[in-house]
Amino acid sequence: MQEAEPGQPVEISLVPLDQADNAEFVTRIADLVNKAYADAEKGLWRDGTRRTSADEVAAVIRAGQLAVARLDGRLVGTVRVQRLHSGEAEFGMLVASPQHRGLGIGRALVTFAEAWARDRGLDRMQLELLVPRAWTDPVKDFLRHWYTRIGYREVRVGQLDEAYPAHVPYLATPCDFVIFHKTL
Ligand SMILES: CC(C)(COP(=O)(O)OP(=O)(O)OC[C@H]1O[C@@H](n2cnc3c(N)ncnc32)[C@H](O)[C@@H]1OP(=O)(O)O)[C@@H](O)C(=O)NCCC(=O)NCCS
Repeated sequence: MQEAEPGQPVEISLVPLDQADNAEFVTRIADLVNKAYADAEKGLWRDGTRRTSADEVAAVIRAGQLAVARLDGRLVGTVRVQRLHSGEAEFGMLVASPQHRGLGIGRALVTFAEAWARDRGLDRMQLELLVPRAWTDPVKDFLRHWYTRIGYREVRVGQLDEAYPAHVPYLATPCDFVIFHKTL
């Protein structure tokens, strides 16, 4: 793995709410997320299915839930942070630009999300990992191991058709999602 270049620290910050009206910025984020997930979740969704849309990204920014990573001023990653009704924090939409993988951007985004939660008095972080039911996906396997390495534990397996029924028609293969928790 490459080390992040000294002098080029990854800068992570919450996106100001008014950026929800910056169509060019919103579209850039949606494109980054969609490209990363199209690659990471190949074979899980029907062709042409998108992970997100500009409207969804704008809504997440407006809710104060989107953080972005910048390297040398360039947009290189995203993470969504939120407080769930159940009282946990959750992060999602975790993406590092495909051109900047292995530099610690993903790790820095998770660290940011965990600090965001602690600052709000939340003591547990949740994440959901979509996995195919019938086969082992190497990308998901890597994520499963990485999340475990950084302190996350599987707490249960959720059924997509119960939790996200609207997504089911877009699946190319049956999937579940594994819920992970970490005590902060
Ligand atoms: C998941 C993702 C954000 C990680 O981004 P990244 O910036 O490359 O991650 P990092 O450089 O911080 O590395 C993360 C971990 O993987 C390890 N790693 C990175 N590249 C590696 C490689 N080529 N070989 C082995 N390990 C590697 C790092 O050592 C690090 O582990 P550590 O925290 O124990 O040190 C990125 O792969 C991505 O955008 N994937 C597509 C979207 C996705 O699947 N998101 C998660 C949905 S749940």
